[in-house]
Amino acid sequence: MNKVLGLSVILAISPLANAADIGAGKAKVETVCAACHGANGVSVSDTIPNLAAQRAGYLETQLKAFKDGVRKAPSMTSPIATMAAIATQLSAADMADVAAYFASLPGASGAAKSAQLPNVAKTSVTFPEGYKDTFTMYHAINFPATKQVRHYYANKVAVQAAKEGKPLPDGSYLLAEVYAAKLDSDSKPVMGADGFFVADKPLLYTAMARGAGWGNDIPAMLRNENWNYAIFALDKTHRPGVNQAECLACHKPLDNVSYTFTLKQLSQAR
Ligand code: HEC
Ligand code: HEC
Repeated sequence: MNKVLGLSVILAISPLANAADIGAGKAKVETVCAACHGANGVSVSDTIPNLAAQRAGYLETQLKAFKDGVRKAPSMTSPIATMAAIATQLSAADMADVAAYFASLPGASGAAKSAQLPNVAKTSVTFPEGYKDTFTMYHAINFPATKQVRHYYANKVAVQAAKEGKPLPDGSYLLAEVYAAKLDSDSKPVMGADGFFVADKPLLYTAMARGAGWGNDIPAMLRNENWNYAIFALDKTHRPGVNQAECLACHKPLDNVSYTFTLKQLSQAR
């Protein structure tokens, strides 16, 4: 321990002030980055890059580019870059450390995948039986690219807090119904009189809810206070394979609006 401390002191005062601390990088990777990139740098899904054996200099440059907003989100459907939300929470030293750690790992074969981090993937959100009777529908959004329309519902606790301009407390529940839009003979979504696509087939539900202690097992860099997330299939069971880390990371920057994208609409709910 002393040796390690002594070494880092020497490095801190030497001209090699930026020498990376692989041990610190490993610790950070295991608690946070592992939720998506795997503790060994082999990612958990096809949409997330492997980082094992990648050059440290390249990784550091990418992290800095995410943090500075120079490298944008690849997704056209969201204004938020998942990695930007993560990278803004890393110092220059953190970046050097995690980059050095990933660079030190052996590369993986193309098909290899890591398991999700169990403490992050686990959710406490259950399906809100009977929500049609007790929740308020407060918003709808058209998704032209996917020809879908979403209907947004909130429970009483959430509606009341939003109307009073207060942060959404434990007990809040927001549910979005995702529908395929009704299509006309040209396969274009049919527009309703209210300006929203006419909902046809229900596809799934996305949900976010919060309860006391629900954030405890989630590392601080990903935690959204006590919010947990879930996707439900039409039979109301949890869709398998959902990685809650992705939900948490993308909603994370919205801490000043209760981690929701639609708080304004919620506050105007009838
Ligand atoms: C919620 C999931 C998630 C978490 C957690 C996460 N990442 Fe990422 N990361 C992604 C995704 C998705 C991409 C690729 C998408 C993109 O280009 O924006 C990515 C891309 C990267 C890249 C660029 C790779 C390349 O080939 O250009 C680096 C570097 C990186 N992540 C580092 C990290 C580090 C370090 C951490 C932990 C501090 C971390 N990530 C945590 C999802 C995540
Ligand atoms: C890439 C960013 C991103 C990711 C990842 C993401 N969301 Fe969202 N989420 C959004 C955006 C943008 C909205 C607002 C409109 C919409 O797309 O429905 C939203 C809205 C929501 C809402 C409606 C309440 C609100 O915040 O306004 C729920 C519920 C929700 N998301 C659940 C989830 C769940 C569950 C996951 C993970 C399986 C997830 N989200 C992952 C960006 C994201």
